Amino acid sequence: MVPDSAEFYAKAPPDRGASSFVYPPTGANLDFFAKALEAGCLVAIPTETVYGLAGLALNETACRSIFAVKGRPLVDPLIVHVPHPSMVGELAVPPAVFDLVAEAFWPGPLTVVLRKRPIVPHLVTAGKDTVAIRMPRHPVAHALLERIPGPLAAPSANPFGYVSPSEAAHVAESFGNRVPFVIDGGPCEIGLESTILDLSEPDQPAILRPGAISAEQLTKVIGLPVRERQIELGIEETASAPGTFSRHYSPKSGLTLFPQGSRPQVADNEAVLFLKRPEGTAGKDVYWLSEDGSLNEVAKGLFSLLRKLDRAGYAGIHCELPSAGSGGIAVAIRDRMKRAAAK
Ligand code: TXA
Ligand code: MG
Repeated sequence: MVPDSAEFYAKAPPDRGASSFVYPPTGANLDFFAKALEAGCLVAIPTETVYGLAGLALNETACRSIFAVKGRPLVDPLIVHVPHPSMVGELAVPPAVFDLVAEAFWPGPLTVVLRKRPIVPHLVTAGKDTVAIRMPRHPVAHALLERIPGPLAAPSANPFGYVSPSEAAHVAESFGNRVPFVIDGGPCEIGLESTILDLSEPDQPAILRPGAISAEQLTKVIGLPVRERQIELGIEETASAPGTFSRHYSPKSGLTLFPQGSRPQVADNEAVLFLKRPEGTAGKDVYWLSEDGSLNEVAKGLFSLLRKLDRAGYAGIHCELPSAGSGGIAVAIRDRMKRAAAK
């Protein structure tokens, strides 16, 4: 008999961490968390993009708790995480091009949307006939997925609408004892959520959410132009990505954006966030996301710094927006900054 989730939540994992609710990814802890997940518990897990709030994808009770804990509306579907591309055929009906895409980008920061099979609960897909699937490359996520028989549903482990977590402490800070099991896998390597590629109409591939894998990279592998979903705010709140509401990832301190290379007007008790270290002596309340303007560094540190400035209680944050046309991950950074700034 599998113990129920309440029994597991009452137990402590074998190896303790430095703070409450956050545990190191030792083998004994991963065994414990795998059993806890199988009993229907939720566990926050590291991935290379952001931390996820994971539960068994094929267990409706576990999925229902994910929505409840996040405060997420049931119309916003979850991403299903698999240990290997071979599991995809059990959950969805992948087109031929899927193999090329998985070969090139999995494991990694790419989610694909495919026609679902009936085994995937409607709750997971918010009633849609498609399912979003990803194979993460973080070794801890992988080690955990290998220990359980089925896939894991995992949205970003933040309260709905708030900044996504890129460190284990962010999850504990937002949820406290409502998510008592957080596995510490260190700061996320990428720091922004995965690219979402819709392959449900394989002859019309489209990016529903930009991420570290760019449209150009996908176009090269697929051999067809990959349409980029219109990311300018308010133009396309598409029915095919109901969760990409325009206001998202928002800190509580109001965020305003200024064009790359310019200087904002700053009032008292406001912070300025530059893409790279400003020349000369930086005043107080001046922050930067990278030393030299590397956009990978900017992506990696963005959510962490937004959370830090939020904790500092600034009345406002002015944030430098990378120029359009910088390509690559700039598209995803611009998207997240604009969503965080949306009123
Ligand atoms: O990097 C990531 O993708 C992280 C890590 C934890 O894997 N997960 C993540 O999940 O960002 P979440 O739930 O915060 O964002 C998932 C997005 C939502 O905007 C949702 O609407 C969209 O994926 N989505 C899920 N299923 C979909 C589907 N069948 N069709 C279109 N969009 C879908
Ligand atoms: Mg999210």
